[in-house]
Amino acid sequence: MQSLLDDIYREVLPLMGQGKVADYIPALACVPPDQFGIAICDNNGRTCSVGDAATPFSIQSISKVFNLVLAMNHYGEGLWQRVGCEPSGLPFNSLVQLEYENGIPRNPFINAGALAISDMNQSRFASPHLAIRDFIRRVSGNPDISANHEVADSEYEHRARNAASAYLMKAFNNFENEVEDVLYSYFYNCALEMTCVDLAKASNFLANRGYCEFSDERILSSAQTSQVNALLATSGMYNEAGSFAFQVGLPGKSGVGGGIIAVVPGRFSICVFSPALNTMGNSTQGVAALTSLTRRINWSVY
Ligand code: DON
Repeated sequence: MQSLLDDIYREVLPLMGQGKVADYIPALACVPPDQFGIAICDNNGRTCSVGDAATPFSIQSISKVFNLVLAMNHYGEGLWQRVGCEPSGLPFNSLVQLEYENGIPRNPFINAGALAISDMNQSRFASPHLAIRDFIRRVSGNPDISANHEVADSEYEHRARNAASAYLMKAFNNFENEVEDVLYSYFYNCALEMTCVDLAKASNFLANRGYCEFSDERILSSAQTSQVNALLATSGMYNEAGSFAFQVGLPGKSGVGGGIIAVVPGRFSICVFSPALNTMGNSTQGVAALTSLTRRINWSVY
């Protein structure tokens, strides 16, 4: 496995910096683009990694996975009355479908869907931002994971588009709490900083039928784990979900901090990080590394 990762590192090195670091969140605009790391975690909790796999980065939309899992634990099937499970085929921050579809977001991974899920968690926890952080600490086995407040504040300052979708859901009675409070929790969770090793570990329960080796507990049932992986496969990469399924063939979730998690059900969880993004907001080098990885060892689930 280590030599496979070393080969992939060499293969994707020429792509270093291709694309553009997310600059619509000003605090992320100054992240150096020439970084690349990858970590793999097997279902016994063993990891192997290469490159900048121990460098913390902003997890951004990858937090939506943990946000969803906590809400599924509490709301069960009722959750799907407020959020759909269809791919949107549109950019992650698009507003156009939301009005046509009466304030019900297409899926939990576009921003509107994640905000609806955050609203559910806001109703359930006294400190929802800390509940998600603490859940991530537990499933990764790393008690030091924290948010970067500068990034959270920068997102809050530039919140117009997310605020617009939350207020639109409120107008359709699909939002229970104060919009500004939910936005704060959502941005705080997006601003958590983790390494590739942390994220490969934290997402391992999705490869392990819902069981977490690091906290020694069942996080989801096997059936719920399949549901989350199906949503990741159809919506985790937004309007690149089709070509990601075609090229990589794994459930995956990206974030504009340059991270992507991917799941090989029954076997491994993977996290790759490289901050320069393609036009769909997904890491250019990250997608290339995962494409190479699954081609070399035929890990596609399809
Ligand atoms: O709300 C936002 O726009 C960001 N906090 C998260 C977006 C994101 O990571 C999209 N993923 N590729």
